[in-house]
Amino acid sequence: MRKGTAAVAVTAATVGAWSLFRTPPGRFKWQPRDPQAPEVALITGASSGIGAEYARQLAARGLDLVLVARRQERLAALAAELSAAHGVACENIAADLAQEAGLAQVEAHIRTLDNLAVLVNNAGFGTVGRLVNADPARQQEMVALHVMAPMRLAQAALPGMTARKRGAIVNVSSIAAYVRMRGTVNYVATKAYLNAFSETLQIEQRGTGVYVQALCPGFTRTEFHATPDYARFEPAQYPAFMWLQAGDVVRQSLDALGNGQVIFVPGALYRVLVALLRTPVLGSALMQMAALFG
Ligand SMILES: NC(=O)c1ccc[n+]([C@@H]2O[C@H](COP(=O)([O-])OP(=O)(O)OC[C@H]3O[C@@H](n4cnc5c(N)ncnc54)[C@H](OP(=O)(O)O)[C@@H]3O)[C@@H](O)[C@H]2O)c1
Repeated sequence: MRKGTAAVAVTAATVGAWSLFRTPPGRFKWQPRDPQAPEVALITGASSGIGAEYARQLAARGLDLVLVARRQERLAALAAELSAAHGVACENIAADLAQEAGLAQVEAHIRTLDNLAVLVNNAGFGTVGRLVNADPARQQEMVALHVMAPMRLAQAALPGMTARKRGAIVNVSSIAAYVRMRGTVNYVATKAYLNAFSETLQIEQRGTGVYVQALCPGFTRTEFHATPDYARFEPAQYPAFMWLQAGDVVRQSLDALGNGQVIFVPGALYRVLVALLRTPVLGSALMQMAALFG
């Protein structure tokens, strides 16, 4: 290879690697707690995993919390732990966000909050198995929880956030948004919705002080794979390096809020994977290979 060509190739590879791995600091400024008017974060799916971790890290940053999930006793235990550790106020709402009554209850509550700074739409679950054989009610529940709930809660939060010119909305998506594999039709489709929703909402909110993020984790150690839906899934068959820790995922997400990366993929491994899947020819070849195993 001639010297000039080699120099261009090295420069291109360096720029490519730099743009892939750089995480500019977020422009969402975390403020010291004001005891007279503390800011509030509302987190759905806070009873375990990634949602509970958002609760811990947002409490540590001095925000009061509204914790939402179906398991009331889990929420109460977490609220007691975080109030004692950080002196923040924690409210719990036991609600099923896949049902109209539960969603309407949380939506109405958001409209009453006059200092909501952070909304984390995190509640979610997966199923395994082809759509043709899947329980229709469970699939409808997934679409309601992953699509309708984040949309309605974001819409309820936006008027206050835009009026105050301050807010962050995190929609917990997945790298599944970039994958097409058998057995995951609605999981993939609903997470792809969250990515498109977040990117388009951020365009609408440009310059308002409201930042939107679609967080796209890969495999993360939580209770996600411990449900009856994943009875035949064996986490140990995936090597340890593929597993992220919820604490790292959430820390990176919060640090990156408002940094221009609306689609935010935590971890170098999954950034490379998503970059490859989004590459025109290579991406579709990889997808077809993956489909063979699905
Ligand atoms: N773990 C992973 O490998 C991974 C990877 C990529 C993306 N994600 C995404 O991360 C998010 C959080 O999942 P996780 O990994 O932390 O799993 P998790 O530990 O199973 O937590 C899921 C949370 O969602 C809540 N939830 C489920 N159905 C609900 C409903 N109908 N109404 C209200 N809350 C409901 C659960 O609470 P209750 O059961 O108490 O209601 C729980 O708090 C999900 O959106 C998931 O798709 C996970």
